[in-house]
Amino acid sequence: MTRFQATAPGKIILFGEHAVVYNRPAIAVPVLNVRARAELEPTTDRDGLQIVAPDLDRNYRLAEAEPDDALALIIRSTLAYLDQSKPPSAILTVSSTIPLGRGLGSGAAISTSIARVLGHFYGRDLAPAELSSLVYEVEKLYHGTPSGIDNTVVAFEQPVYFVRQQPIERMPVARPFTLVVGDTGRVSPTHKAVGYVREQWQADPAGYEQYFDEAGRIAAAARELIEQGRSIAKLGQLMDENQSVLEKMGVSSPELEQLIQVARQAGALGAKLSGAGWGGNMIALVEPQPEAIRAVTQALTQSGATGVIVTEVDGIHHP
Ligand code: MEV
Repeated sequence: MTRFQATAPGKIILFGEHAVVYNRPAIAVPVLNVRARAELEPTTDRDGLQIVAPDLDRNYRLAEAEPDDALALIIRSTLAYLDQSKPPSAILTVSSTIPLGRGLGSGAAISTSIARVLGHFYGRDLAPAELSSLVYEVEKLYHGTPSGIDNTVVAFEQPVYFVRQQPIERMPVARPFTLVVGDTGRVSPTHKAVGYVREQWQADPAGYEQYFDEAGRIAAAARELIEQGRSIAKLGQLMDENQSVLEKMGVSSPELEQLIQVARQAGALGAKLSGAGWGGNMIALVEPQPEAIRAVTQALTQSGATGVIVTEVDGIHHP
């Protein structure tokens, strides 16, 4: 019997995390070499949908899922969107090479791959905008007030210049550039960090509005550099500036700052945390030569990074 498959990439926020929740622009790019995968294998010997997630050590029936189960939520909302009153009789296997809970969009990618594979099964190739809004609904349940940037970049699989509640702008990348992504090994609790920033903003609106403006200005300047393929060194400087603003917002951490520091010392042109902060990943911009990449990768690993991913950012569409 036909087996259906779909994948979705990881993501990183290049500029503007947190400020994007307050309607400032941000830039996110897909990480194409780590992916979530959903496989749907129709069965004839049983009724209903069996969910198998080996990475999470889980194997259960959709009908028995907890009400707040993230996989069940995206399955049910996609089925409703596709006008299906009952699930297919099938085994849905979900796996991912995206580190979980590290700000690399693992949740959004898993949800996207599930919605996409259900679309394939029912003969409907869901468009990126449809996938993005289905996944956004699930993100809301988990992250409280997400800006929508994660689901957008994961579903569109292209660099995006994102402003909340505005039509998505795909970003051309005039000259590809290389990022080294270093994992602190700590979970990045997105909803807690986002909640903390909200409390601080409520306590000091003028101060935080200034931080958000500054992050937005940096994202807009970075967009110009990326679209025009201009100075990679200047792009690195903007990453350093964005990191300073994130430190002032209170979402950095000693582990992140240690990795950022060693990456800069090993020759990175700029480095910052990426995503919600307090853990998760940092990113470093490096010259595209193998020696430069190796130097930063080694420095991060020696300083305790639990995982390092090298990714090239280009503007080419990878469906
Ligand atoms: C999380 O990847 C990015 C944040 O800006 C939250 C959001 O945009 O929803 C921290």
